[in-house]
Amino acid sequence: MKFFIDTANLEQIKEANDMGVLDGVTTNPSLMAKEGVKGEENCRAHYLAICNIVNGDVSAEVIATDYEGMIREGEALAALHPNIVVKVPCTADGIKAIKYFSGKQIRTNCTLVFSPGQALLAAKAGAAYVSPFVGRLDDISSDGVELVEKIVDMYTFYGFTTQVLAASIRHTQHIIQCLEAGADVATCPLGAIKGLLKHPLTDSGLATFLADHQRVNS
Ligand code: G3P
Repeated sequence: MKFFIDTANLEQIKEANDMGVLDGVTTNPSLMAKEGVKGEENCRAHYLAICNIVNGDVSAEVIATDYEGMIREGEALAALHPNIVVKVPCTADGIKAIKYFSGKQIRTNCTLVFSPGQALLAAKAGAAYVSPFVGRLDDISSDGVELVEKIVDMYTFYGFTTQVLAASIRHTQHIIQCLEAGADVATCPLGAIKGLLKHPLTDSGLATFLADHQRVNS
């Protein structure tokens, strides 16, 4: 399983990258707005800054919702850096654009996916990644992890190569559950990744090791 961090915050990306386990980054218009990044030039500079921190795929989302606009924006984003993956919403124009991009060897991440049917269309269009939003389904009493399982099973059965990128991860347990469901990638908040480290028995065990060493060697 690959770990991506789901943020446009450069400090958090640096911290996650310095942990030595980061494989990529996902952003979206809300995450970019949260960092106050506005205007095409600033957005492109920000994506490049992220690419210069992490040696891995970086998802950059188109703003246009029409096919022609998606193509125009996506080609410009893809030209920024080899690691840029064009993020496209799962709409009729989005699926059409993904098909176009796959024909041009431009890798895409089909986002805002909430059903197996949407994931099927993303794979048939040739998306490199599909992003089922686990947390947002859980938020409305649906089962986000179950969606990941269904997509993994469908892709495995039909031999689709689209990678399942579990998104909208809310906490550390979501990461474990998506791993168990067979997701190829989990894109997570920094806290959820750091939460994987935490266990009281590790802390108490280390304290005992050090105390025993100190007792004999002091
Ligand atoms: O990559 C998609 C992710 O950012 C959405 O997360 O927490 O807004 O549902 P959230």
